[in-house]
Amino acid sequence: MKVAVLGAAGGIGQALSLLLKIQLPAGSELSLYDVAPVVPGVAVDLSHIPTDVKVTGFGKDDLATALTGCDIVLIPAGVPRKPGMDRSDLFNINAGIVKNLIEACADNCPDACIGVITNPVNTTVAIAAETLKAKGVYNKNKLFGITTLDVIRSETFIAELKGKSTSDVHVPVIGGHSGTTILPLLSQVKGITFTDEEVASLTPRIQNAGTEVVTAKAGGGSATLSMGQAAARFCLSLVAAMQGKDVIEYTYVQVDGSEDAAFFAHPVRLGKHGVEEILPYGELSAFEQKAKEEMLDGLRNDIKMGVDYVNS
Ligand SMILES: NC(=O)c1ccc[n+]([C@@H]2O[C@H](COP(=O)([O-])OP(=O)(O)OC[C@H]3O[C@@H](n4cnc5c(N)ncnc54)[C@H](O)[C@@H]3O)[C@@H](O)[C@H]2O)c1
Repeated sequence: MKVAVLGAAGGIGQALSLLLKIQLPAGSELSLYDVAPVVPGVAVDLSHIPTDVKVTGFGKDDLATALTGCDIVLIPAGVPRKPGMDRSDLFNINAGIVKNLIEACADNCPDACIGVITNPVNTTVAIAAETLKAKGVYNKNKLFGITTLDVIRSETFIAELKGKSTSDVHVPVIGGHSGTTILPLLSQVKGITFTDEEVASLTPRIQNAGTEVVTAKAGGGSATLSMGQAAARFCLSLVAAMQGKDVIEYTYVQVDGSEDAAFFAHPVRLGKHGVEEILPYGELSAFEQKAKEEMLDGLRNDIKMGVDYVNS
């Protein structure tokens, strides 16, 4: 497996690269790219960890080489949120970064699976899809918005609240990846029931968990360590699936014929070629159904912004 991390010198990029260096299967290659001059140093630093994963750093002018032969590309390049900003405020800067990086993916590794982390994910995934279409290499089964952070946060908060081990808590999270578009399905958490009050307080806590981190970091950025772990979990699931294991993850993908939105986080069966099957998310409680109906226009608008950005 050859995995590229674009934006590898950043907060997420470094945490993610470390986790991949110690967890990718032996014989894998890790290709670290960033415009920041420190990136070769990050690669040298990681290369001293004794695992059978080869790490190489690539600077600003070496994007094509970094991408050539990649099976998976993960994109956390961009600027993070500061207090007072929401994910949409990042749009103007991050849209251009994602478009440029995706064009390079189209030119150098058109068959790779691409996981977009750069926010606003609701929109940057649509930008990626339109950019790949314009290049004539779009494969909807190989483009993912990584929403795993919403899943791991939900698991943590619920395990804490209910005194359970996190390994026994599995939480479906559907929809998008910003504010109310994040929809945790607490009614479907196996073996745990919630009071109406718990649902009413846990749901917004999960939706606004990113802001908890932004506020606590007081101007120093947004979630990096937990996001690094979330992206590593998603990447390792994808690697396992590409090597023949049966794996299901919740992720933001193109859903043809969806009555919800063109892109929507669903449970997805991953396989050798990316999305094997988009699974239904099951029945919603009245609370979840209402929350979904109330957020759909916002999510569709976020997606339209991405489509318009590339096509106008
Ligand atoms: N999907 C999620 O759940 C989630 C969670 C947290 C943050 N994020 C997003 O991830 C992104 C990165 O966050 P961070 O905290 O790591 O930020 P950071 O500022 O620490 O790192 C970003 C890195 O991207 C690099 N970069 C900028 N432009 C680039 C380009 N054109 N090519 C390659 N690299 C480039 C920078 O040099 C920097 O090293 C932000 O957009 C943030 O909002 C997503």
